Amino acid sequence: MTGAEIQYDAEGGLHHFLTIEGLSRETLLQILDVAETFIDVGHREIKKVPLLRGKTVVNLFFEASTRTRTTFEIAAKRLSADVINLNPLRLSTSKGETVLDTVNNLEAMHTDLFVVRDSYSGAAYLVAQHVPPHVSIINAGDGRHEHPTQAMLDVFTIRQHRPDFDNLKVAIVGDILHSRVARSQIHALKILGAEEIRLIAPKTLLPTEVERLGVTVFNDMKSGLRDVDVVIMLRLQLERMQGSLIASEQEYFNLYGLTQEKLAQARPDVLVMHPGPINRGLEIASEVADGPNSLILSQVTNGIAVRMSVMALLLGGQSMRKEH
Ligand code: CP
Repeated sequence: MTGAEIQYDAEGGLHHFLTIEGLSRETLLQILDVAETFIDVGHREIKKVPLLRGKTVVNLFFEASTRTRTTFEIAAKRLSADVINLNPLRLSTSKGETVLDTVNNLEAMHTDLFVVRDSYSGAAYLVAQHVPPHVSIINAGDGRHEHPTQAMLDVFTIRQHRPDFDNLKVAIVGDILHSRVARSQIHALKILGAEEIRLIAPKTLLPTEVERLGVTVFNDMKSGLRDVDVVIMLRLQLERMQGSLIASEQEYFNLYGLTQEKLAQARPDVLVMHPGPINRGLEIASEVADGPNSLILSQVTNGIAVRMSVMALLLGGQSMRKEH
Protein backbone atom coordinates (compact mmCIF):
# COMPACT_ATOMS: atom_id res chain seq x y z
CA MET A 1 0.00 0.00 0.00
CA THR A 2 1.16 3.57 -0.66
CA GLY A 3 1.44 6.23 2.04
CA ALA A 4 -1.81 7.75 0.79
CA GLU A 5 -3.71 4.43 0.84
CA ILE A 6 -2.84 3.35 4.38
CA GLN A 7 -4.04 6.67 5.74
CA TYR A 8 -7.70 5.64 5.45
CA ASP A 9 -9.43 2.83 7.35
CA ALA A 10 -12.04 0.45 5.88
CA GLU A 11 -14.85 2.98 6.58
CA GLY A 12 -13.00 5.75 4.78
CA GLY A 13 -12.04 7.58 7.98
CA LEU A 14 -8.52 8.86 8.67
CA HIS A 15 -6.37 6.31 10.53
CA HIS A 16 -2.84 7.66 9.92
CA PHE A 17 -1.78 11.13 8.76
CA LEU A 18 1.37 10.71 6.68
CA THR A 19 1.08 12.73 3.47
CA ILE A 20 -1.20 15.34 1.92
CA GLU A 21 -0.65 13.79 -1.50
CA GLY A 22 -3.52 11.42 -2.24
CA LEU A 23 -5.94 12.80 0.36
CA SER A 24 -9.39 13.87 -0.80
CA ARG A 25 -10.66 17.44 -0.82
CA GLU A 26 -13.38 16.30 1.62
CA THR A 27 -10.74 15.09 4.10
CA LEU A 28 -8.84 18.37 3.94
CA LEU A 29 -12.04 20.39 4.42
CA GLN A 30 -13.05 18.14 7.32
CA ILE A 31 -9.70 18.78 9.05
CA LEU A 32 -10.07 22.54 8.52
CA ASP A 33 -13.70 22.60 9.70
CA VAL A 34 -12.97 20.54 12.84
CA ALA A 35 -9.96 22.79 13.57
CA GLU A 36 -12.30 25.78 13.37
CA THR A 37 -14.32 24.34 16.27
CA PHE A 38 -11.16 24.00 18.42
CA ILE A 39 -9.99 27.63 18.04
CA ASP A 40 -12.34 28.65 20.82
CA VAL A 41 -10.76 26.17 23.30
CA GLY A 42 -7.58 28.28 23.29
CA HIS A 43 -9.54 31.33 24.47
CA ARG A 44 -11.25 29.63 27.42
CA GLU A 45 -10.09 29.94 31.01
CA ILE A 46 -9.85 26.15 31.20
CA LYS A 47 -8.29 25.21 27.87
CA LYS A 48 -9.40 21.58 27.77
CA VAL A 49 -11.99 19.27 26.24
CA PRO A 50 -12.37 15.61 27.31
CA LEU A 51 -12.33 14.06 23.83
CA LEU A 52 -9.14 11.98 24.15
CA ARG A 53 -9.28 11.25 27.89
CA GLY A 54 -7.56 7.91 28.54
CA LYS A 55 -5.59 7.96 25.25
CA THR A 56 -1.78 7.96 25.24
CA VAL A 57 0.21 10.04 22.72
CA VAL A 58 4.00 9.68 22.33
CA ASN A 59 5.99 12.46 20.64
CA LEU A 60 8.91 10.69 18.97
CA PHE A 61 11.12 13.42 17.53
CA PHE A 62 14.52 12.36 16.20
CA GLU A 63 15.14 15.86 14.76
CA ALA A 64 15.11 19.30 16.38
CA SER A 65 11.76 21.07 16.65
CA THR A 66 10.32 24.01 18.55
CA ARG A 67 6.91 24.70 16.99
CA THR A 68 5.75 21.26 15.87
CA ARG A 69 6.72 19.32 18.99
CA THR A 70 5.37 21.92 21.40
CA THR A 71 2.07 22.49 19.58
CA PHE A 72 1.50 18.73 19.30
CA GLU A 73 2.04 18.46 23.06
CA ILE A 74 -0.30 21.38 23.82
CA ALA A 75 -2.88 20.04 21.36
CA ALA A 76 -2.87 16.56 22.93
CA LYS A 77 -3.12 18.04 26.43
CA ARG A 78 -6.04 20.27 25.38
CA LEU A 79 -7.79 17.11 24.20
CA SER A 80 -7.08 15.56 27.67
CA ALA A 81 -4.76 12.85 26.31
CA ASP A 82 -1.72 11.67 28.31
CA VAL A 83 1.39 12.86 26.46
CA ILE A 84 4.94 11.55 26.64
CA ASN A 85 7.80 13.52 25.03
CA LEU A 86 10.91 11.53 24.33
CA ASN A 87 14.33 13.09 24.08
CA PRO A 88 16.23 11.26 21.29
CA LEU A 89 19.55 11.79 23.08
CA ARG A 90 18.23 9.78 26.03
CA LEU A 91 16.52 7.06 24.01
CA SER A 92 17.97 3.56 23.68
CA THR A 93 18.36 4.18 19.92
CA SER A 94 21.58 5.95 21.01
CA LYS A 95 22.69 2.52 22.35
CA GLY A 96 21.97 0.74 19.07
CA GLU A 97 18.26 -0.13 19.38
CA THR A 98 16.41 0.30 16.08
CA VAL A 99 13.59 2.85 15.77
CA LEU A 100 11.12 0.00 15.11
CA ASP A 101 12.21 -1.81 18.29
CA THR A 102 11.82 1.46 20.20
CA VAL A 103 8.30 1.77 18.77
CA ASN A 104 7.54 -1.90 19.69
CA ASN A 105 8.50 -1.23 23.29
CA LEU A 106 6.49 1.98 23.52
CA GLU A 107 3.53 0.25 21.88
CA ALA A 108 3.79 -2.46 24.55
CA MET A 109 3.03 0.36 27.03
CA HIS A 110 -0.34 0.81 25.24
CA THR A 111 0.42 3.90 23.19
CA ASP A 112 -2.50 4.93 20.93
CA LEU A 113 -0.74 7.49 18.74
CA PHE A 114 2.87 8.22 17.77
CA VAL A 115 3.85 11.61 16.38
CA VAL A 116 7.04 10.97 14.43
CA ARG A 117 9.70 13.35 13.11
CA ASP A 118 12.80 11.99 11.45
CA SER A 119 15.45 13.14 8.99
CA TYR A 120 14.71 10.14 6.71
CA SER A 121 12.01 10.52 4.05
CA GLY A 122 9.48 7.75 4.60
CA ALA A 123 10.25 7.20 8.32
CA ALA A 124 6.64 7.78 9.49
CA TYR A 125 5.34 5.53 6.69
CA LEU A 126 7.74 2.77 7.78
CA VAL A 127 6.47 3.01 11.36
CA ALA A 128 2.82 3.06 10.16
CA GLN A 129 3.37 -0.17 8.22
CA HIS A 130 4.87 -1.79 11.31
CA VAL A 131 2.46 -0.93 14.14
CA PRO A 132 -0.68 -2.97 14.99
CA PRO A 133 -3.99 -1.80 13.48
CA HIS A 134 -5.25 0.02 16.61
CA VAL A 135 -2.22 2.39 16.66
CA SER A 136 -2.15 5.62 14.61
CA ILE A 137 0.86 7.52 13.25
CA ILE A 138 1.20 11.22 12.41
CA ASN A 139 4.08 12.39 10.25
CA ALA A 140 5.58 15.50 11.92
CA GLY A 141 8.13 15.93 9.10
CA ASP A 142 10.14 13.23 7.31
CA GLY A 143 13.34 14.29 5.57
CA ARG A 144 12.59 16.21 2.38
CA HIS A 145 9.32 14.38 1.80
CA GLU A 146 6.30 15.93 3.60
CA HIS A 147 5.19 17.88 6.67
CA PRO A 148 1.44 17.46 6.36
CA THR A 149 0.20 19.16 9.56
CA GLN A 150 2.34 22.22 8.70
CA ALA A 151 0.61 22.50 5.32
CA MET A 152 -2.80 22.09 6.96
CA LEU A 153 -2.13 24.90 9.44
CA ASP A 154 -0.87 27.05 6.57
CA VAL A 155 -4.02 26.58 4.46
CA PHE A 156 -6.12 27.04 7.62
CA THR A 157 -4.41 30.41 8.21
CA ILE A 158 -4.87 31.43 4.57
CA ARG A 159 -8.57 30.43 4.67
CA GLN A 160 -9.16 32.67 7.72
CA HIS A 161 -8.24 35.67 5.54
CA ARG A 162 -9.03 34.48 1.97
CA PRO A 163 -11.83 31.90 2.06
CA ASP A 164 -12.12 31.77 -1.75
CA PHE A 165 -9.26 29.56 -2.99
CA ASP A 166 -10.54 29.75 -6.60
CA ASN A 167 -9.10 33.27 -6.87
CA LEU A 168 -5.95 32.70 -4.84
CA LYS A 169 -2.44 33.30 -6.16
CA VAL A 170 0.25 31.92 -3.85
CA ALA A 171 4.02 32.31 -4.20
CA ILE A 172 6.32 29.90 -2.34
CA VAL A 173 9.84 31.33 -2.21
CA GLY A 174 13.26 29.90 -1.46
CA ASP A 175 14.79 26.50 -0.89
CA ILE A 176 12.11 24.36 -2.56
CA LEU A 177 14.63 21.57 -3.25
CA HIS A 178 15.08 20.60 0.41
CA SER A 179 11.63 21.60 1.65
CA ARG A 180 9.14 18.98 2.88
CA VAL A 181 6.88 21.92 3.81
CA ALA A 182 6.72 23.17 0.20
CA ARG A 183 5.82 19.69 -1.08
CA SER A 184 2.93 19.38 1.38
CA GLN A 185 1.78 22.95 0.72
CA ILE A 186 1.71 22.42 -3.05
CA HIS A 187 -0.43 19.28 -2.66
CA ALA A 188 -2.80 20.99 -0.20
CA LEU A 189 -3.21 24.11 -2.34
CA LYS A 190 -3.81 22.01 -5.47
CA ILE A 191 -6.42 19.81 -3.74
CA LEU A 192 -8.21 22.89 -2.38
CA GLY A 193 -8.26 24.46 -5.86
CA ALA A 194 -5.91 27.45 -5.55
CA GLU A 195 -5.92 29.41 -8.82
CA GLU A 196 -2.14 29.68 -9.17
CA ILE A 197 0.87 28.33 -7.27
CA ARG A 198 4.17 29.98 -8.11
CA LEU A 199 7.58 28.77 -7.00
CA ILE A 200 10.30 31.43 -6.86
CA ALA A 201 13.85 30.19 -6.40
CA PRO A 202 17.29 30.03 -8.01
CA LYS A 203 17.59 27.08 -10.43
CA THR A 204 19.93 25.31 -7.97
CA LEU A 205 17.21 25.19 -5.30
CA LEU A 206 14.43 23.72 -7.47
CA PRO A 207 13.76 19.99 -7.95
CA THR A 208 14.01 18.80 -11.56
CA GLU A 209 10.71 18.84 -13.49
CA VAL A 210 8.93 20.50 -10.57
CA GLU A 211 6.43 21.97 -13.09
CA ARG A 212 4.87 18.50 -13.23
CA LEU A 213 3.28 19.31 -9.86
CA GLY A 214 1.17 21.95 -11.62
CA VAL A 215 3.11 25.00 -10.50
CA THR A 216 4.62 27.96 -12.36
CA VAL A 217 8.34 28.54 -11.84
CA PHE A 218 10.01 31.96 -11.57
CA ASN A 219 13.68 32.67 -10.99
CA ASP A 220 13.21 36.29 -10.00
CA MET A 221 11.21 37.93 -7.24
CA LYS A 222 10.01 40.94 -9.24
CA SER A 223 7.89 38.99 -11.73
CA GLY A 224 7.13 36.10 -9.36
CA LEU A 225 5.59 38.27 -6.65
CA ARG A 226 3.51 40.42 -8.99
CA ASP A 227 -0.10 40.61 -7.72
CA VAL A 228 0.12 37.54 -5.46
CA ASP A 229 -2.31 37.19 -2.52
CA VAL A 230 0.00 35.12 -0.36
CA VAL A 231 3.77 34.81 -0.13
CA ILE A 232 5.23 31.89 1.81
CA MET A 233 8.95 32.20 2.56
CA LEU A 234 11.06 29.11 3.22
CA ARG A 235 14.19 28.68 5.29
CA LEU A 236 17.46 27.96 3.49
CA GLN A 237 18.11 24.41 4.74
CA LEU A 238 21.89 24.73 4.89
CA GLU A 239 22.14 21.51 6.96
CA ARG A 240 20.66 19.50 4.06
CA MET A 241 22.80 21.08 1.31
CA GLN A 242 25.67 19.10 -0.15
CA GLY A 243 28.10 21.52 -1.75
CA SER A 244 27.42 25.16 -2.43
CA LEU A 245 24.02 25.79 -4.02
CA ILE A 246 24.10 29.56 -3.47
CA ALA A 247 26.93 31.99 -4.27
CA SER A 248 26.80 33.65 -0.84
CA GLU A 249 24.24 34.38 1.86
CA GLN A 250 24.47 38.11 1.10
CA GLU A 251 23.77 37.56 -2.61
CA TYR A 252 20.91 35.19 -1.77
CA PHE A 253 19.32 37.83 0.46
CA ASN A 254 19.80 40.51 -2.20
CA LEU A 255 18.07 38.37 -4.84
CA TYR A 256 15.52 36.31 -2.88
CA GLY A 257 15.27 37.80 0.62
CA LEU A 258 11.83 39.30 1.23
CA THR A 259 12.10 43.04 1.85
CA GLN A 260 9.37 45.67 1.94
CA GLU A 261 10.59 46.88 -1.47
CA LYS A 262 10.16 43.47 -3.10
CA LEU A 263 6.85 42.90 -1.33
CA ALA A 264 5.47 46.05 -3.02
CA GLN A 265 5.04 43.91 -6.19
CA ALA A 266 2.35 41.85 -4.46
CA ARG A 267 -1.20 42.92 -3.62
CA PRO A 268 -1.26 45.62 -0.91
CA ASP A 269 -3.08 43.25 1.47
CA VAL A 270 -0.74 40.32 0.73
CA LEU A 271 -0.43 37.70 3.49
CA VAL A 272 3.19 37.01 4.48
CA MET A 273 3.85 33.56 5.91
CA HIS A 274 6.79 31.42 6.99
CA PRO A 275 6.68 27.97 8.64
CA GLY A 276 9.66 28.84 10.84
CA PRO A 277 12.28 28.78 12.08
CA ILE A 278 13.00 32.12 10.36
CA ASN A 279 16.47 33.42 9.55
CA ARG A 280 16.24 37.19 9.71
CA GLY A 281 18.38 38.92 7.10
CA LEU A 282 18.82 35.69 5.12
CA GLU A 283 15.41 34.84 3.65
CA ILE A 284 13.30 37.60 5.24
CA ALA A 285 13.95 41.11 6.54
CA SER A 286 12.80 41.89 10.09
CA GLU A 287 10.67 44.77 8.79
CA VAL A 288 8.59 42.20 6.86
CA ALA A 289 8.67 39.36 9.41
CA ASP A 290 7.37 41.74 12.09
CA GLY A 291 5.32 43.93 9.73
CA PRO A 292 1.56 44.40 9.37
CA ASN A 293 1.14 41.74 6.65
CA SER A 294 2.91 39.02 8.61
CA LEU A 295 0.92 36.02 9.86
CA ILE A 296 3.96 34.09 11.07
CA LEU A 297 2.88 33.90 14.71
CA SER A 298 -0.77 33.28 13.80
CA GLN A 299 0.44 30.19 11.94
CA VAL A 300 1.99 28.93 15.18
CA THR A 301 -1.19 29.57 17.19
CA ASN A 302 -3.36 27.90 14.54
CA GLY A 303 -1.06 24.88 14.63
CA ILE A 304 -2.61 23.90 17.96
CA ALA A 305 -6.21 23.78 16.68
CA VAL A 306 -5.19 22.05 13.45
CA ARG A 307 -3.19 19.38 15.32
CA MET A 308 -6.10 18.93 17.76
CA SER A 309 -8.31 18.36 14.72
CA VAL A 310 -6.03 15.73 13.17
CA MET A 311 -5.61 13.87 16.49
CA ALA A 312 -9.35 14.03 17.22
CA LEU A 313 -10.19 12.61 13.79
CA LEU A 314 -7.64 9.80 14.18
CA LEU A 315 -8.51 8.82 17.75
CA GLY A 316 -11.93 10.33 18.42
CA GLY A 317 -13.81 7.43 16.81
CA GLN A 318 -16.94 7.31 14.66
CA SER A 319 -18.82 9.91 16.73
CA MET A 320 -16.15 12.52 15.97
CA ARG A 321 -16.30 11.78 12.23
CA LYS A 322 -20.10 11.81 12.08
CA GLU A 323 -20.44 15.07 13.98
CA HIS A 324 -18.42 16.76 11.26
N1 CP B 1 7.71 24.60 11.10
C1 CP B 1 8.38 23.67 11.81
O1 CP B 1 8.34 22.46 11.52
O2 CP B 1 9.08 24.17 12.89
P1 CP B 1 9.87 23.28 13.94
O3 CP B 1 11.04 22.65 13.22
O4 CP B 1 10.29 24.23 15.03
O5 CP B 1 8.95 22.22 14.44
